[in-house]
Amino acid sequence: MTARPSPTTALPTGGSAAHPFNRLRPRRSCLAVPGSNPRFLEKAQGLPADQVFLDLEDACAPLAKPEARHTIVKFLNEGDWSGKTRVVRVNDWTTEWTYRDVVTVVEGAGPNLDCIMLPKVQNAEQVVALDLLLTQIEKTMGFEVGRIGIEAQIENAQGLNNVNAIAQASPRLETIIFGPADFMASINMKSLVVGEQPPGYPADAYHYILMKILMAARAHNLQAIDGPYLQIRNVDGFREVARRAAALGFDGKWVLHPGQVDAANEVFSPSQEDYDHAELILDAYEYYTSEAGGKKGSAMLGDEMIDEASRKMALVIAGKGRAAGMQRTSKFEIPEA
Ligand code: GLV
Ligand code: MG
Repeated sequence: MTARPSPTTALPTGGSAAHPFNRLRPRRSCLAVPGSNPRFLEKAQGLPADQVFLDLEDACAPLAKPEARHTIVKFLNEGDWSGKTRVVRVNDWTTEWTYRDVVTVVEGAGPNLDCIMLPKVQNAEQVVALDLLLTQIEKTMGFEVGRIGIEAQIENAQGLNNVNAIAQASPRLETIIFGPADFMASINMKSLVVGEQPPGYPADAYHYILMKILMAARAHNLQAIDGPYLQIRNVDGFREVARRAAALGFDGKWVLHPGQVDAANEVFSPSQEDYDHAELILDAYEYYTSEAGGKKGSAMLGDEMIDEASRKMALVIAGKGRAAGMQRTSKFEIPEA
């Protein structure tokens, strides 16, 4: 397994020989768009979501799936998705639809597609199977081999048990995503309100699941994404649930409605103040550890002592800010001798 740069500790540099593809994409808000609905596919292009995923799975009725594959190809090729990560969610490997979803979409729109999202992943082999199929299509079509990434959804008990193996199943993997609706059904959780706490339990019913996903993602340098919040008119509720995932360290969350997009972008971005501070720490640390700065292991930045651990923490915040396209508003000044 090739090691890859961490989404938070190594910043996008355009790739290297060992890491030829930049898998570190902004994903604060991941907008779900039914692949069978041209009106939504049109509208989604104008929304400020970091990622869109055009859905062939649960937002697309079985009878609508064959036509939706072609609708998605058309919208990927002809739409204006600039500034967005373009993803298609195919059906899971236990259905009869997966291979045709992948073949039709990737052959038809491969160069205009960044990732395939695989739902209800239960084991590493399912990711490997998708990787192999993508490679065959890329070779047949003359596309760059390995460029298209994979996003794996964890939506049932088997998937969660195997999440560590799933997270290292393919160098194409970019994210591990929590799918709360299917997950709640899979474990018989006593609630129908997706994304909210089940009544009658005094603590956070999702903590273990989210942490397990986060650990697997971080251990293998992938992004961790929280799934949908279905009460789409309750933006405060969405914000609250998003804040919890962001506080743990998640990189972004699904959005189902334009009203959730700004909230997700805000919750998963650092504040301007924290971002500026993080960049200052990085510059100051680089200077003070250099020959010119006196090769110091720790140094003062204003009233604050900084050292290698400060640099690691600053990298996390700076990485999120850069991924969100933030600009610095202050500069490190080399102190006068
Ligand atoms: C998403 O796919 C979910 O099941 O929550
Ligand atoms: Mg699901």
